[in-house]
Amino acid sequence: MSPAPPAAGGLHRAGPADRARFLLRVLLPGAAEGLIRRRPWAMSLAERLRTDRAAITTLRDLRHRYGPRPLRLSVAGRSLVLLLDPDDLARLLRETPDPFTPASWEKRRALEQFQPHGSLITPGPERAARRRANEEALDSGRPEHRLAPALTARIHQEAAAVAERARAGGQLDWDLFAAGWWRSVRRLVLGEAAADDTALIGLLDRLRSTGNWSMLAPRRGRLRAAFLDRLRTAIDRADPDSLAGALRAGPAAREHGVDPVHQVPHWLFAFDAAGAATLRTLALLSCHPDREAEVRAETAAPWPGTRREPVAPLPRTRAAVLEAVRLWPTTPVLLRESTRATRWYGTVVPAGTAFAAFTPYFHRAEPPTGYRDRFDPDIWRDGTAAGHPALVPFSAGPAGCPGEQVVLLTAGHWLAGLLAETRYRTVSALRPGPDRPLPATFDHTGLRFTARRA
Ligand code: HEM
Repeated sequence: MSPAPPAAGGLHRAGPADRARFLLRVLLPGAAEGLIRRRPWAMSLAERLRTDRAAITTLRDLRHRYGPRPLRLSVAGRSLVLLLDPDDLARLLRETPDPFTPASWEKRRALEQFQPHGSLITPGPERAARRRANEEALDSGRPEHRLAPALTARIHQEAAAVAERARAGGQLDWDLFAAGWWRSVRRLVLGEAAADDTALIGLLDRLRSTGNWSMLAPRRGRLRAAFLDRLRTAIDRADPDSLAGALRAGPAAREHGVDPVHQVPHWLFAFDAAGAATLRTLALLSCHPDREAEVRAETAAPWPGTRREPVAPLPRTRAAVLEAVRLWPTTPVLLRESTRATRWYGTVVPAGTAFAAFTPYFHRAEPPTGYRDRFDPDIWRDGTAAGHPALVPFSAGPAGCPGEQVVLLTAGHWLAGLLAETRYRTVSALRPGPDRPLPATFDHTGLRFTARRA
């Protein structure tokens, strides 16, 4: 039954049964998968139980019954506003960081395990310089990073090595891919001296696993100090043509005292998501032969590392990666906290309220147009995606991902390197092809391909 409309317009409050459904079908499965570091066993279970589909359906049902306005609920004593309409999401992202700070209490508790002064969890005036330092070093907004030739040369070396190993063994899986991916990430971010520093990533992984428990976990001060010490040494040694080298030399670090050691942990953490997106894109391509042919045609041209400049822009490959992140957002919950009272449809919502947007719902169900459960990279090139304020795999506005272009450059050239001499066929349980709606949960850690010379 539909609830009565709220008095004088305003906002609905979800009843106890809907609160319980939201908790069980949206929040808990996401938390179980691991919001800061994915747990492979939980991802595999979630894929089999189709938990994201259930979450999307739940939100669609809430919208159907309560209407499109933000829905108020309280979860474990925390006052929460759930967004259900693209325009409201656009407002939340636009009005960041004031009055909607990305440094919500839950996010601070989770991320401060390894990045206590990272831009994303910095409240107040100090945020601006930290954000700027990220934008400068990552060349935000420029498809081709100023260090692109050096970066892509390293990417092609690592991707070619993985492809060769895959051909030799006849197969590619997440573990084989991830070993090469992380080597390339260390070289891109920290330069050649860090190429084999797997211990650094091991420390980060342990801190991220603790971060999964957010406010429930104690701080691991000694482990964090060990990680940050090791990272500081690596940043001091980083080549000038690495991303950390760019951050160290940038004006925000030099003139505004932004310490690179507190910004780089987020980069290392977030490159994990970029790896997941890259391998999922490979699976999509291997199951969509027409799309694969387009990408092969585009990536067959020579690239830097063979001294050709500028780097190949790879628009179709990048669009395929964007589409993989639309279908399976690696940041499924965009969370903000209001720094002061805000007004929504005539209702004043007090300061300190959490605002949440569940992106798998927005990317697939709202608005209900034809692309939602299909792999359609063209929407990123023909203006369709740009016209939808809620298609935000990299978020948007003043806290939108400053690494988006670096991710697309990295993923695009990784795919070029993997595809160059090798053909892949997805052989793991879930094959994301055009014959049926694409699943809403896709465990990248369970992916397996056969690999043979192209
Ligand atoms: C598939 C890969 C990635 C995706 C989908 C992604 C997406 C996002 C999203 C959705 C946010 C906003 C989070 C929020 O509002 O809570 C964000 C923030 C951020 N991302 Fe990414 N990201 C990716 C990889 C990267 C990489 C590789 C880097 C750095 C090299 C990076 C740097 C950042 C930074 C510094 C922020 C914080 C921005 C701020 O404080 O305003 N991201 N990212």
